[in-house]
Amino acid sequence: MIQRSNGSGRRILTYPAVHPCEVISPQTLLASLITLTCNICSFKSKVIASNARNAREIIRQIGVVRVFLEAVRDESSGLPTSAVLSLSELHLAFQKVQFLLEDLARDDARVWMLMKSGHVASQFRILSRAMGTALDVLPLASVDASVEVKEHVELVARQARKTGYEVDPDDIRVVEAVRSVLAGLEKGVAPDKGDLKWVLEFLGIRKWSRCEKQVKFLDSEIGFENLSQEKREVGLLCSLKGLLCYCRCVLFDVVDGEPGRRSETKCSGAGVAVDCLNSEDFRCPISLEIMADPVTIATGQSYDRSSIEKWFRAGNPICPKTGEKLKNTEVVPNLALKRLIQQHCCENGVAFADSGHRNHDSGRTRLAVAGSLAAEGAMKMVAEFLNGWLEVGTVEEQNKAAYEIRLLSKSSIFNRSCLFEAGVVPHLLKLLCSADSGIQENAIASLLNLSKYTKSKAVIVENRGLDLIVGVVKKGLRLEARQHAAGTLFYLSSVEEYRRLIGENADAIPALMELIKDGTDRAKKNALVAIFGLINHPENHRRVIVAGVVPLLVNVLTSFDSEALVTDALAILSTLAEKPDGSVAISRCKALDTIVGILNSSIPRAGKEFCVSLLLALCVNGSGDVVALLAKSPSLMGPLYSQLNEGTSRASKKASALIRVLHEFHERRSSGSISPVPQERFVHVR
Ligand SMILES: *[C@@H]1O[C@H](CO)[C@@H](O)[C@H](O)[C@H]1NC(C)=O
Ligand SMILES: *[C@@H]1O[C@H](CO)[C@@H](O)[C@H](O)[C@H]1NC(C)=O
Ligand SMILES: *[C@@H]1O[C@H](CO)[C@@H](O)[C@H](O)[C@H]1NC(C)=O
Ligand SMILES: *[C@@H]1O[C@H](CO)[C@@H](O)[C@H](O)[C@H]1NC(C)=O
Repeated sequence: MIQRSNGSGRRILTYPAVHPCEVISPQTLLASLITLTCNICSFKSKVIASNARNAREIIRQIGVVRVFLEAVRDESSGLPTSAVLSLSELHLAFQKVQFLLEDLARDDARVWMLMKSGHVASQFRILSRAMGTALDVLPLASVDASVEVKEHVELVARQARKTGYEVDPDDIRVVEAVRSVLAGLEKGVAPDKGDLKWVLEFLGIRKWSRCEKQVKFLDSEIGFENLSQEKREVGLLCSLKGLLCYCRCVLFDVVDGEPGRRSETKCSGAGVAVDCLNSEDFRCPISLEIMADPVTIATGQSYDRSSIEKWFRAGNPICPKTGEKLKNTEVVPNLALKRLIQQHCCENGVAFADSGHRNHDSGRTRLAVAGSLAAEGAMKMVAEFLNGWLEVGTVEEQNKAAYEIRLLSKSSIFNRSCLFEAGVVPHLLKLLCSADSGIQENAIASLLNLSKYTKSKAVIVENRGLDLIVGVVKKGLRLEARQHAAGTLFYLSSVEEYRRLIGENADAIPALMELIKDGTDRAKKNALVAIFGLINHPENHRRVIVAGVVPLLVNVLTSFDSEALVTDALAILSTLAEKPDGSVAISRCKALDTIVGILNSSIPRAGKEFCVSLLLALCVNGSGDVVALLAKSPSLMGPLYSQLNEGTSRASKKASALIRVLHEFHERRSSGSISPVPQERFVHVR
């Protein structure tokens, strides 16, 4: 099941309450009801920003019912069975009241609950009526409790049926203010700061971090809404998110709670830039394509809907991945995975392990728009505002601006284009020389994600940015800054001309090598991908070999680095091996056994494919010894034959070419011929 954003498994403003079962004993029901009423009463002390009066009123009424229930519990005679029906209805209504109060008390949903205050008030009315009806049918006469307590319950029953639960006039005023600000944003009118402060004060949003929480919450609601059938609320949610982003950037000078750091250090393995992307998880195990509509079947495995349905239609009631026989062939949409895939597709940077599809436009499914006119207006104003701070702000303001840009440039092409158009790129480049390690890191992190936007690349290069970025790879004040700088070089190296220019900077390759030597895994990863980007240029190919990258990579293979790093190192080696100087350098490192060992290990498929290409290239383009050595290796043939079936079609072609090479070697040897292998006999597979 999908974990919703609040972690409770429930989406906000939904009330998945269940009826107690019919055979429940009255005592159990009573105890459970009392617990529910206690929970509800505990909301008295929580901060509720909108619908505050309605919440107080329903809590008061339920408090009276609680006193009654406790009195009944303490009577020895217990409850008549005729009371069970009424109490069951109360139980259902109270569950829903609790959900509603939980939503109202969420500190990240305040803006949204305010905007939904009409709906919330009507829910209170409906639930209160249900409570009134349930109390009406309670057989009070046959229940043991004091007259006074019974009178209170009767009074509450009447009130529950009558209370208006109107929307608070204060709520209405604030909602109107928000709507008028949004209307202004649509027309490009900057909101009045005083108005915004008043709205945020009303909602108790007094800090950057709380403002940021609203943005995150709205963002996750947009995700769920986008997956729903109607998508009715998307426009409003996007507008509000735009507005809250604006508030966060413009109204708060101080970023509280050391934010960013936390989210930066964890690596979910799901769609995070160059750093730790694992797009294999996004591929359907049947079609091997990125899943368009992931669904989960009874075994918990996910497949693309069209593939698995075809599989079932073909009469296979088993799970293709686990081989388990299925009790049913029901499929459930995996919305969480779908979101991650969408997010992943929003990125231009393509995974490294994916090098076969490098320039494949996975961004096509992306939404390049802000979601609403107001959101668009807000983002443009934010970009202008931040650019102003970068240009003429104090050091603190520049740092704050660079930090906000870093956050904004993470998520969308639209944000990146607004920031770019506002002119932030040259200012950020200047900040790379800052003596403040925080500013430098924020600036290079911003540039990393901005450099995914095509136009930014040119502006970076025109402003001498390449040298500055190489400088940060080499001597960045923090290791993180060096890591981001390496990542930026990777994105820049997607342009032929820039690959050449980066290579011409004598510091570039040595600085990346330093990172591979002593960086963290993520820094190594970025440096490896940057080198992979660079060697697409013939001059760089030569430079990399001269600089001694090959032994360094072989070291990565042998030093038990993570599978991802090993895969990246293999990818570079297999590209280098395609040319004679590369093959020679690799053969010199005596790495054949290591490579064969990796092929026989449990490394993911992409890694094995690189092993096969690498070995094939070494046989075809390297010296004759390689074939002889490989022919002697006992553990090569098995894994090679499995590649014929298990690998991609490319891997299997290469494996069969390599098998042919080895067979011919054996044949020639048994026929006594020792002449070198005639190269043109081999199929050149790419
Ligand atoms: C712009 O960036 C913010 C992150 O601060 C993000 O929440 C928002 O979704 C982005 N805008 C768009 C249009 O995606
Ligand atoms: C760049 O954006 C991705 C998400 O698109 C994010 O995970 C990553 O942390 C960002 N990089 C930096 C250095 O902030
Ligand atoms: C061998 O070298 C040639 C020329 O450099 C290259 O085109 C070819 O792809 C290489 N073959 C393999 C299997 O790497
Ligand atoms: C290849 O891998 C298998 C299974 O992991 C292992 O049993 C076998 O010993 C390996 N072969 C060699 C020669 O290392």
